[in-house]
Amino acid sequence: MTYLEPGRPDQIAADLRGAFQQRYGAAAAAVGRAPGRVNLIGEHTDYNRGLVLPLALPHATYAAAAPRTDGRVRVASLQDDSVWEGTLDEAGPGGPRGWATYAAGVLWALREAGVDLPGADLLVDGRVPLGAGLSSSAALECSVAVAVLALAGRDLDAGARRLVVDACIRAETEVAGAPTGGMDQTVAVLAEEGAALLVDFDTDESRPVHLDLAGLTLLVTDTRVSHELIDGGYAARRADCEAAAAELGVPSLRQADLESVERIGDERVRRRARHIVTETDRVQPVADALAAGDRDTVERLFALSHASMRDDFEISCDELDAAVAVAVEAGAVGARMTGGGFGGSSVAIVPDERVEAVMRAIDTEFALRGFATPAHLRAEPSAGAGLV
Ligand code: GLA
Repeated sequence: MTYLEPGRPDQIAADLRGAFQQRYGAAAAAVGRAPGRVNLIGEHTDYNRGLVLPLALPHATYAAAAPRTDGRVRVASLQDDSVWEGTLDEAGPGGPRGWATYAAGVLWALREAGVDLPGADLLVDGRVPLGAGLSSSAALECSVAVAVLALAGRDLDAGARRLVVDACIRAETEVAGAPTGGMDQTVAVLAEEGAALLVDFDTDESRPVHLDLAGLTLLVTDTRVSHELIDGGYAARRADCEAAAAELGVPSLRQADLESVERIGDERVRRRARHIVTETDRVQPVADALAAGDRDTVERLFALSHASMRDDFEISCDELDAAVAVAVEAGAVGARMTGGGFGGSSVAIVPDERVEAVMRAIDTEFALRGFATPAHLRAEPSAGAGLV
């Protein structure tokens, strides 16, 4: 069975400092840490100004940084041999490619936001599984932003946290070109330990929701089906949502109701909009149910959410459907796919004593059907980004 431990932050940071010293011949001045996330409910609702309920994982990306005085940036990773080097000007749109885009793009976006940066050497250690729908890219962006802000002498107060969220969203959308909605960066920076984060993208307000998970485990299963947000599927869903809002004459689908959605002419656009409107309506009830330990409501709304993503929004796949169905058969209180979709991960709420059985049942089903071996992890609600 493949089970992913998050590792101990102090140990990971110490090892990263050692690797930094070896690579650059100088000490790191700061190590930033930012978590991946799992979303409990509210999928593709963020860019429709809806509600989401993600939480930060204990699995995080770490970025060690030291300042340079010549305006240059060097970016390297413990997971990948390719390095990127250039000036701060070159770190913006059209500049770096591949994973380094997300790191270098943050420096560009922070400078655009008025942060005085002299240049930097960076080395990252990503402990969030890649392409798993768990926001490894937001974790990378936010870990770099936190480290670099420390180099610039800024405390990570509430204002700086907002600055980090906004700069990381710009890095992802404008530099990396992924038309995503902002949920991942928001939770990576604003999450609190022990709580999920309820975010309203109409007002940009967020608040922690303390979950009553006594006797329950949040089990995430990475199907190992690769997921790329810069592929066409995500952008196509977003375009359909915008077309639906335009046809209804509302600024976003947050202002639409189910009755008017059912009158949309194009059948596909109608189904896309139906997912967004029904999904947004499920978020507050799930938050309330999880806070109150109301398992029946969670079970019902997780099932409706998964079916809506499978049938109306069409972002699930055989592996995700199997992981969800098997988890429920093997005793989960509720399960659904999570994240952008087209592969990635499922999340299940499982009574502690059933966790082993659920993991084994999913592994067995995947082996029988010839799917890749999945990886499991426990999603203990963790704190947002910070320095280690
Ligand atoms: C990805 C995006 C988010 C959000 C989710 C789907 O994670 O980065 O902005 O749209 O997909 O809920």
